[in-house]
Amino acid sequence: MTTIDTVSSLRAAFDAHGQAHVLRHLDALTPNAREAFLAQLSDVDLALVARLAKPAADEKHTFAQLAPAPYVALGGDTTDARGAGEALLRAGRVAAFTVAGGQGTRLGWRGPKGTYPATCVTGRPLFRGFAEQIAAAEKRYGCVIPWYIMTSPLNDAETRSFFRDNNWFGRNPADTFLFPQGTMPSVTFDGKLMLETPGSLAVNPDGHGGAIRALHASGALEDMRARGIEQMSYFQVDNPLVRIADPVFLGLHAGHAGGKDARSSGEMSSKMVAKRDAAEKVGVFCDVGGKTGVVEYSDMPAELTTAVDARGMLRFNAGSIAIHAISVAFLERLASGGEDGSFALPFHRAKKKVPYWCDAQGKTVEPAEPNATKFEAFIFDALALATKSLVMETSRTEEFAPIKNASGDDSPASSHQIQSNRHGAWLEKFGVKVPRRPNGDVDAQIEILAETALEADDLSDTALPREIKPGDEVVL
Ligand code: UD1
Repeated sequence: MTTIDTVSSLRAAFDAHGQAHVLRHLDALTPNAREAFLAQLSDVDLALVARLAKPAADEKHTFAQLAPAPYVALGGDTTDARGAGEALLRAGRVAAFTVAGGQGTRLGWRGPKGTYPATCVTGRPLFRGFAEQIAAAEKRYGCVIPWYIMTSPLNDAETRSFFRDNNWFGRNPADTFLFPQGTMPSVTFDGKLMLETPGSLAVNPDGHGGAIRALHASGALEDMRARGIEQMSYFQVDNPLVRIADPVFLGLHAGHAGGKDARSSGEMSSKMVAKRDAAEKVGVFCDVGGKTGVVEYSDMPAELTTAVDARGMLRFNAGSIAIHAISVAFLERLASGGEDGSFALPFHRAKKKVPYWCDAQGKTVEPAEPNATKFEAFIFDALALATKSLVMETSRTEEFAPIKNASGDDSPASSHQIQSNRHGAWLEKFGVKVPRRPNGDVDAQIEILAETALEADDLSDTALPREIKPGDEVVL
């Protein structure tokens, strides 16, 4: 039970920060609701909220210092890197890590995004596709790849039931570690905390940068250490084509052929694709004062986003597909730097529509326009804290088909097309006739399951059709 003393000290603290209005319904709450609300209130770092709500006048990005980041371009010899990555995988030193705590509001799917039916023929949910890919890699390398999944308090219970209902996709539950990230309260444009209901604050997940704190607080980092994990393959829940256990990337990142790759510190590396066009909503790898970092699309000034070089190519063309290799040692270092509550990563501000409790209407109201500021930390800000950081180019068709919007770019339809394009190209490599439209897109739906092939060359021993006809639906 919360004592009267605790309640009065909470009241005093909220009052001192001009936030006492959120306690206005406290006395009308049931004892349980009151307990839960008081627990939520005691978790709020009022000083941090006050600091974030009032950006310092000089807190501006200095874009004059931006230059395109160097990267390892496609097409080089990757034999040594592959060997080194495979050795890491075989030794059981690699874990998978999915950030799945986002709210997925743009897609309009009622449920955790990982439960979305994503593949082009069988409609496999994202989580199932990842589980099958991990299982295929475990079989290939004779290892266990523990899978860590960050949820949020808003979708944790639903995500867990999904795994349970699907019998953990055949995985050993002991090797599958779900944990929720933290939240941050949203504030009105004049810095006031908001109620979502009379007994709860309006909060949002604290961004994928919240992973550092959550990996630490949940015991996941400790679990990795105990298992001898050295590197973590980080990816977002929205990309069904991510290559979770990519030996070339892991090898380049962690060093190969007996010595470290001079371009990497083995702390945090990233994958990029050439941007589709200037308007594509991806972060861009930049050299920021001598360090590799990502500048988010919403922060990049238009004149830099559209700048072209002498050949007419986009100057800032290294689009982030939000795939990273991150070492456990680096995570531990970041996690130990968290005294200010940010675990070493800064919070970004975004104006969003946040549902709020309206006393006059006696209900939670969905605003039509942005009404609040949300605070989120981004994992890619950790790049600046790495000693050195490598960026590797990859092919968009091979590895990037995100599902973010209900229609148009980065939608289920565009993802299905890219999935079929990838698998069509794999089949063509082995002489299969694949129908293509004038724009080069494959004119059929082709799904190749992870157990059949993790990459094109795995198809060499598979019985393949001779020809696929326009409009066919093929599952291999
Ligand atoms: C993101 C990247 C962008 C990158 C693009 C590639 C950010 C801010 N931007 O854009 O640089 O080019 O993907 O597809 O990430 N998530 C959490 N917890 C949170 C918030 C998000 O786990 O609190 C997860 C989501 O579940 C999702 C991922 O992070 O897996 C991306 O989040 P989202 O906000 O949708 O970023 P994008 O705008 O798509």
